Amino acid sequence: MEKPFKRRDLLGIRDLSAEEIKGILDTAENFREINAREIKKVPTLRGKTVINLFFENSTRTRTSFELAAKRLSADAVNISISSSSVAKGETLIDTALNLDAMSPDCIVVRHGSAGVPHQLAKVSKAAIINAGDGTNEHPTQALLDAMTIREHKKKIADLEVAIVGDILHSRVARSNIQLLTKLGARVRVAGPKTLVPDDFQYLVEKDLIVCKNIEEAIEGTDVVMILRIQKERQDSAYFPTLREYSIHYGLTHERLNLAKEDAIVLHPGPMNRGIEIASDVADSSRSLILDQVKYGVAVRMAVLYLATGGTASSE
Ligand code: CP
Repeated sequence: MEKPFKRRDLLGIRDLSAEEIKGILDTAENFREINAREIKKVPTLRGKTVINLFFENSTRTRTSFELAAKRLSADAVNISISSSSVAKGETLIDTALNLDAMSPDCIVVRHGSAGVPHQLAKVSKAAIINAGDGTNEHPTQALLDAMTIREHKKKIADLEVAIVGDILHSRVARSNIQLLTKLGARVRVAGPKTLVPDDFQYLVEKDLIVCKNIEEAIEGTDVVMILRIQKERQDSAYFPTLREYSIHYGLTHERLNLAKEDAIVLHPGPMNRGIEIASDVADSSRSLILDQVKYGVAVRMAVLYLATGGTASSE
């Protein structure tokens, strides 16, 4: 298998070319079938070590990185921050240097501050994978979203994609806006004015369409991506109440009917049911939320494989 990704670290979508993104997605396609086997394990990364260093909570990302490593036969170690020496005051860089001294091949890091994976990449010999840094980027989420879209729409170029909700605090939005426009989709964003930054155009070369309401964003789209209201990052009152947010920006069937008949619904999770998305929409046949999670394992297998320099076949 030819390696399409010649970098050591995966820090953000911003650094990647369209060719590199397609290369990761194609590699993930090769790994996908392993997850449907009865014995979900191949020797591809035997002898490699992956450390999961999560300073923020996670269900999907952490579990799927661990499963991805284990299904490729790498040794996977999860570090719990509450029981690590970070709780005794050890600095981030000292923690990274000490982990690096144990010769892991890859460190997957999630942190509440933007730029932490970039800092670790400067001091670590291991490949650093960004599993979400503050409000900056969540590159593997955007990759698994792209894999889900590609699977169901058979392309990404020329699709109309609406991203709705808390754009300001969303690393998922930042990574997706960059990835989707690099692959030729047209992206529209909508949310309360206080949660849609004026300066987002800097992220992309093509026009980013800022819509005045959710209806305008959804009208005629192929993909509707709903973002979580990030209560943990709301340091001021961006909207009056959650109920009011839900009334003006919640995705209901009525609103979804403005999109194309075959439009699909994505949400990165965890969902606030009844706030940004109605439960019956989340559970409908147009919702691919659990497919996103399923493809997350294949995408993370591909990222670990490419970043750790594995060269064995995925068969
Ligand atoms: N989408 C996502 O990052 O989910 P987790 O926070 O559960 O990892």
